[in-house]
Amino acid sequence: MGMEEFFAQLPRGKEDKPLLLEMGPSVYDFHDIDGLYFMLDRNLSGCLIMMWAKPMNPEAAGRITLDGKEIPRYVIKPMAEMGGMWILGIPLRGMVTEYSREYKLHVEGFEDTDGNEMNPQDFVVKGIDKTEPDAKYEEHEKIARQAAAEGIVLLENKNGILPVKEGITLNLFGKGIHQFRNGAVGAGKISPRYSVNLAEAIRESECFSLNEELAEFYSCDEDEIPDGEILKRAKEKSNLAVMLLTRAAGENMDLSTAKGEYYLSEKEEALLNTLAKEFEHTVVILNVGYPIDVSFVTRYGIDALLYSGFGGMLGGPAILDVLSGKVNPSGKLPDTWAKDYFDIPASRNFYDCVDKPRLNAECDTYLDTYYEEDIYVGYRYFTTFSKKAAYPFGFGLSYTTFTVDAQVMGFDGEELRLQVKVKNTGNVPGKEVVQVYAGKPDGKLEKPERELIYFEKTRELGPCEEQEFQITVPAKHLSSYSEKAAAYIVEAGTYNVYVGNSVEAPACGNFKVPEELLVKQVVNRMVPPEEIRVLSKYAPKETWPGGEKSGVCEGKTTFKPYTLRQEYPVARTADSKGGSDTLQQGHVTFEDVRKDLSKAEAFAAQMSIEELARVSVCGSAGWGMEGIGEAGHVVGIEGYDMPEFLVSDGNSGVNLNVKNIGMPSGVTLCASFNKELSEQVGRVIGEEAKELGMPMILAPAFNIHRNPLNGRQPEYFSEDPYLAGMMAGYYCRGMEGAEVASCIKHLIANNCESSRKRNQSIVTERAIREIYFRAFEIAMEVHMPAAVMTAYNACNGQPTSTDADLILGLLREENGFDGFVMTDWTSYDTADIVEMVQAGNCWITPGSLDDTFTAQIVEGVKDGRIEKARLIENVAWIIRVMAKFA
Ligand code: BGC
Repeated sequence: MGMEEFFAQLPRGKEDKPLLLEMGPSVYDFHDIDGLYFMLDRNLSGCLIMMWAKPMNPEAAGRITLDGKEIPRYVIKPMAEMGGMWILGIPLRGMVTEYSREYKLHVEGFEDTDGNEMNPQDFVVKGIDKTEPDAKYEEHEKIARQAAAEGIVLLENKNGILPVKEGITLNLFGKGIHQFRNGAVGAGKISPRYSVNLAEAIRESECFSLNEELAEFYSCDEDEIPDGEILKRAKEKSNLAVMLLTRAAGENMDLSTAKGEYYLSEKEEALLNTLAKEFEHTVVILNVGYPIDVSFVTRYGIDALLYSGFGGMLGGPAILDVLSGKVNPSGKLPDTWAKDYFDIPASRNFYDCVDKPRLNAECDTYLDTYYEEDIYVGYRYFTTFSKKAAYPFGFGLSYTTFTVDAQVMGFDGEELRLQVKVKNTGNVPGKEVVQVYAGKPDGKLEKPERELIYFEKTRELGPCEEQEFQITVPAKHLSSYSEKAAAYIVEAGTYNVYVGNSVEAPACGNFKVPEELLVKQVVNRMVPPEEIRVLSKYAPKETWPGGEKSGVCEGKTTFKPYTLRQEYPVARTADSKGGSDTLQQGHVTFEDVRKDLSKAEAFAAQMSIEELARVSVCGSAGWGMEGIGEAGHVVGIEGYDMPEFLVSDGNSGVNLNVKNIGMPSGVTLCASFNKELSEQVGRVIGEEAKELGMPMILAPAFNIHRNPLNGRQPEYFSEDPYLAGMMAGYYCRGMEGAEVASCIKHLIANNCESSRKRNQSIVTERAIREIYFRAFEIAMEVHMPAAVMTAYNACNGQPTSTDADLILGLLREENGFDGFVMTDWTSYDTADIVEMVQAGNCWITPGSLDDTFTAQIVEGVKDGRIEKARLIENVAWIIRVMAKFA
């Protein structure tokens, strides 16, 4: 029965009583902390969603019980996204906690808008069934656990209180017990075969037991303080309190400086205060996806602090591995953790909804975001302006100690050579991360105090064991971008080299560059439409970002007119009539293209304009809520024998409604600083994608962490372009090694979710090239991926999806990208499809199966706004990738 028929037969008349309907079997997954509906409304986090047959009166209170226990809060509202259907959101987090157990749900007293009260209704809600690990995936899950554990950063460990002595009972405090997050929300969400949270990991471990009374107490799903008796019994069990601090984050909405988001909530403060007073030792675990205020560490004298991020399906056991000492922590911070949010220069130019409406992704408000901090992103600001951070970039403690000895061997104009020796000087085995920074001389360009130019993780070193590294850094990784010369240059002067295990690495020598080196002559392509006043170390006070120009643009309803940029003639052989001589190769089949990719263009040139348009528009798919949940697919054309080509999201797993691997979030993987591990993670996701029939995964997403309040912070990798780019490049290499196409995203300057389709980033060309694009450039250097996704936002006067300079210029011409470019989903809400196609954006997503979008392309070719040759070229890029991966 279709939806319409279904609704037609429901009692919906004026006299009919309201009926509550189950949306499928009422199974509650207590590992999926925020659920799918969180993206639409934060209040629906942790809720079981039911549907009303009639519009309801939200004022008329009802009553809900679970196994006789009253559920005090609920959400009753119409959902615009569900055709205005009224829903009832029942928060079950903390209450449904047992696998396969059936709970009795009773609902009564709710009233519809016609004044009819419902008949009391009873339902059965079942906890999810437990899935045991399958030996088939043992190796994959081993990598997931390793990535989660290596991504844990130990930030404090006073008097070596960690690792915890075996045999004790662990007192876990905080709503994080039942809100233990394994991943981000949205595109970065995971759909794991099973998941183990920290409480479960403790229960299953042989070394520890769990204070079950506390676990039961926190079924309240709030950071309450247990009463004196409970605390007393906890203290009798052990003198250690472990507080789990948690935060949701993900696509669709940014965070804010509200209490409970960047700052601690009052309840969190009060609980920590109590724990620090009552217990001898307090350990805090940050199950958060973005840097938060950590001033509580000194305020309450916290002994140990662990940033676990979102660890994926095995996030719980990974934390336990570190707490127990089975794994010696080796993660390092991929971001600076500021002492306060407002220390961050980008804080002034970021929409903070603390005192304003939260603008979600679909919001129709236009916003400008001026990147006044310019190149001073993350540690580049903190080190240059001598601002103390709470925890610096690259920092992370270990249970052992290391010495890092380095020697600069010289720079020959092409390469910097270094010799580094790392020695484990402590008592337990461990891994260390060698980090090399360059302090470039100020010349024509002012420079940050230091920049990361290399990193490498050691193998596990036993006590007294050493590892040596012969390091080479190419000149281009030492270059800076001169807008004036439109070139990447290595300026003359003395370069200081710092080698160590964080951004606070000591100087280990220097080298001289006698004369300026021209590394790469280019042309400026991304010039902002107006001059931006940017932060300068020469006038820190005068140039400190004021944010005056950023924010809501009153009265603005479109990005148009776009800034006029350079024209890019079609570089390929196809001409506007549909094929030059070189394309007259007789009938070219898809099989021919598989054998010889250079035939892709001739293959595409055989298509009619309608057919070319059809391939250029994705055939809209489930997008998470229905069916298998793939994000889209290429529509095959009859008679061309094109294979099926589905794409799905998944930085941390295959984001489908089918269970598979659940890796840690991007930022946590990045915190491992382990390139080979990132490659393994990419490989594992690729292998699972292949098994699920997905030839392409829309990952990795690794936009620069410009501001910690970006909703997608957990999905993205780092504030540093070299680190983010390296980790992303290795990830792509692993995925494509498994013969699954990767798609790096989102190009470019996509640094917030607030009104993201109507948000314009205004950035200097230098910052684009040294920070925002540099991450993509480095990734492409490591491995050229099959695809690139443009972003929702506009950058410097032009939506990224229609920006020929970005796509055809910077990406293809300058950096040799040879895959296909696609739009982000529904970018056409605020950008012109015809202009996207003419700018070389090959795939318009998510599109549809009718001619809504294809007709616009056909029209565009007819009226000359799209060159037919461009369309052929675009399609050929898609065909080539399909031939390689499908
Ligand atoms: C996200 C992309 C994702 C796409 C398809 C968009 O909302 O921004 O990262 O790949 O959806 O699901």
